Amino acid sequence: MTANNTHDDWWKQAVVYQIYPRSFKDVNGDGLGDIAGITEKMNYLKTLGVDAIWLSPFYPSELADGGYDVIDYRNVDPRLGTMNDFDAMVAAAHGSGIKVIVDIVPNHTSDKHRFFQEALKAGRGSAARDRYIFREGRGKNGELPPNDWQSLFGGPAWERVDDGQWYFHIFAKEQPDVNWKNPDIHEEFKETFRFWSDHGVDGFRIDVAHGLAKDFDSESLEQLGAEFSVQNQENRDGRSPMWDRPEVHDIYKEWRQVFNEYNPPRFAVGEAWVIPEHQYLYASTDELGQVFNFEFAKSNWNVDDMRKAIVEGLDAAARTNGSTSTWVMSNHDIPRNATRYGLPQVPSHEKHQVAKDWLLRDGKTYFEDRKLGTRRARAAVLMEMGLPGSVYIYQGEELGLFEVPDIPWNRLEDPNASRTKQAASDKGRDGCRVPLPWVADDEPKPASWDKNFGEGASFGFSPASKADGTPSEAPHLPQPLWFKDFAADKEADDPTSMLTLYRSVLKNRAELLTATGDYDSLDWLDMGDDVIAYTRPAIYQGSASTFASVTNFGAAPIALPKGRVLLTSAELAEDGGLPQDASAWLLLDE
Ligand code: GLC
Repeated sequence: MTANNTHDDWWKQAVVYQIYPRSFKDVNGDGLGDIAGITEKMNYLKTLGVDAIWLSPFYPSELADGGYDVIDYRNVDPRLGTMNDFDAMVAAAHGSGIKVIVDIVPNHTSDKHRFFQEALKAGRGSAARDRYIFREGRGKNGELPPNDWQSLFGGPAWERVDDGQWYFHIFAKEQPDVNWKNPDIHEEFKETFRFWSDHGVDGFRIDVAHGLAKDFDSESLEQLGAEFSVQNQENRDGRSPMWDRPEVHDIYKEWRQVFNEYNPPRFAVGEAWVIPEHQYLYASTDELGQVFNFEFAKSNWNVDDMRKAIVEGLDAAARTNGSTSTWVMSNHDIPRNATRYGLPQVPSHEKHQVAKDWLLRDGKTYFEDRKLGTRRARAAVLMEMGLPGSVYIYQGEELGLFEVPDIPWNRLEDPNASRTKQAASDKGRDGCRVPLPWVADDEPKPASWDKNFGEGASFGFSPASKADGTPSEAPHLPQPLWFKDFAADKEADDPTSMLTLYRSVLKNRAELLTATGDYDSLDWLDMGDDVIAYTRPAIYQGSASTFASVTNFGAAPIALPKGRVLLTSAELAEDGGLPQDASAWLLLDE
């Protein structure tokens, strides 16, 4: 136990590994990853050196949005296993010293959730409809939606039901938004938190945390202009009718009471796409406790953007009551970072536009420089993991996987893609959700429908056959043949692989850094405009020492500060200089 890693505060400096369960590991051969698959890979996670796993939704769902359309918040999708499997997985995790975080989706339910089914049956003006956001339409017979807002996945944000009323959905129409002014919703989620906490869950990731509170009553919906649209998530003045409203914090204060019923108190991290100056409200330990800082995830490989991301992340943490910083390079919603860094670089305000354009044309518009992308991803992980606070790794990031841009359109699952198919304006997020390669030799043959993809085997994602001896189904999203080079077993044996680097980085971080405080523990080292360098107090072999992380973005190699080099992301130059797009970790000479 270290200073920041006590019984109650385990999350403050944790390395959290995000699992997208349907694509992690399939044990029963149905082509979908399952809970038992996570249990099977617990040793892999332990060896990697993570402190916690966060599971994206594994609940019963019709998969209108990769499981973020939840039919029953207190159960396991039968295709992914049973509650017994879940309990066994938690026991295995805890046995390996790994905490478990589950994803809670409180902004919307599935349209198959019992509440929504009741609302449809009960009709206009009923108590059951009040759990959602139903309104009358415009036009002579209410045939027009209440206003012209578009959903985040494309198409109108309002859907009409049989009796003529319309309901609101920020995301897909299968994801009706709930009404947080209704007490039943509060009870449903409090019960859900208690249910999972009683099953040993240590914390929660809160989906769309900035969207729960809605005020659609104060002004006529029709008169709300574009600045108050669904799309405008970073509205700065708290006047948006749905994003980042002040009342949302009352909800989190109420949940905190529930989290604190447990010992240690349950932890929560919010997905809140708000301006950095507002993050601290969500992250207060009177509320969720932590919030994702997405500035790295939004950045390309650009020294100014990266530096700004660190400064803002530290500032946000400094402003909170008891929270810590968080660092995220990738997740299940954004193009993989090794790809982003290997595509042409644009300033961050264009976010992922280059990657999105590239995806839209199946990876054909720009050259993806994989060597460069890998080199930068290696440099990035050292820069990131030396920082104070929690770090979130997305499955496959540790293998250095690239985005899969050329999944055929008819195999895509993301509503972002299917809803815009006609206009073909967005290929969606499936390219980072392809089932993981575990075993290089379990090599598929080139598929009959596209020779770049595999067929007949799945790099160890699924077993060869199901329990009844019939061959396993194909993975739910197709795997490209180039996954062979990234299979976990191959990388585990390769001292130069991304996996080996992640393992050493996490080991060094755990040994040197977790005891040394948060945002106030970092000092900048000024090594010029093209360099991000910082120091932190460290413990090395039982004694106080000074740790430094140096990343060179500039073309010319730079001399490292005097000290013992612990780890580098690339080979140093002959004279010991740190070349471009490389990072080093050192212990400084006193
Ligand atoms: C969050 C999830 C994303 C999902 C959306 C709707 O942004 O990360 O995957 O589509 O919420 O639930």
